[in-house]
Amino acid sequence: DWTAEQFVEGTVAQLQEKLGNDKVVLGLSGGVDSSVAAMLIHQAIGKNLYCIFVDNGLLRKDEFETVLDSYKHMGLNVKGVDAKDRFYAALEGIRDPELKRKAIGRTFIEVFDDEAHQIEDVKWLAQGTIYPDVIESLSVNGPSATIKSHHNVGGLPDFMKLQVVEPLNTLFKDEVRLVGRTLKIEETIIGRHPFPGPGLAIRILSDITPQKVHILQQVDHIFISSLKSAGLYDDVWQAGAILTPVQSVGVMGDERTYEHVVALRAVASVDGMTADWCRLPYDFLADVSNDIINKVKGVNRVVYDISSKPPATIEWE
Ligand code: XMP
Repeated sequence: DWTAEQFVEGTVAQLQEKLGNDKVVLGLSGGVDSSVAAMLIHQAIGKNLYCIFVDNGLLRKDEFETVLDSYKHMGLNVKGVDAKDRFYAALEGIRDPELKRKAIGRTFIEVFDDEAHQIEDVKWLAQGTIYPDVIESLSVNGPSATIKSHHNVGGLPDFMKLQVVEPLNTLFKDEVRLVGRTLKIEETIIGRHPFPGPGLAIRILSDITPQKVHILQQVDHIFISSLKSAGLYDDVWQAGAILTPVQSVGVMGDERTYEHVVALRAVASVDGMTADWCRLPYDFLADVSNDIINKVKGVNRVVYDISSKPPATIEWE
């Protein structure tokens, strides 16, 4: 029978054997998989694991600082890289969702390659690939294939020529969480909702500006922290807010306003392949809506997405 304790013990021993005194580089995302992979390798080789956590300017409010802090508390050798401006520059004027993804993927690779070059004599690239990613990448369009498809000019960047180590590639998500708990990773990291790599860029319809990111971060923060305080966060598989390019008329005091419409989305799912919209309580939605409209400048209307997947997708882009 599989147990997380045995998995950790066995994998740490294998990693020590395989990696010896070599240096390893790993990109942290704030998500469950890369965090668990990092802690597992850290147990095996300690400071020889060099973690890089990139702020692409598309993360949730305060996420970069908070998560970087937790990583440091966990004892990881982690470097936080503020690359917000590089990503905003790469995204400027882009409206097409797939072009946004390409620009973000390309910029991530450039930033990561610059950082990897600063680690002298690094031998391995570690990734938090889990079993479903392996299966999906066999069907061409999976997350692991994505990084390669983004880089279609000028040959592979140097870090992609490193030997690859993927200690979680036989595990399912629930097993990854069990391993994470065995490694004493904080519940705020283990239990977090999935979040797309391109982040808020695919929840801001039309072009991205730092001002729009700022608006959406505030809206998202109100929604997510309300889910937590109402005890609903763990009942929801994924939740977030979408900034639409639609403006609508409203009234605020004696003034007529003409501002953004935001949409809230919360879904129940097992693996993201199909999803049903969550029947959140009306009173909860009413409070969140009031809070958003009262507190976030630039938003005067909130709608709730009641579409299921299929035929809708979870994200709007
Ligand atoms: P959709 O919108 O396709 O989303 O129903 C299914 C799941 O995948 C996530 N998603 C992405 N994750 N890069 C990612 O890393 C992406 O480009 C991307 N697009 C969607 C989405 O958040 C949901 O969990």
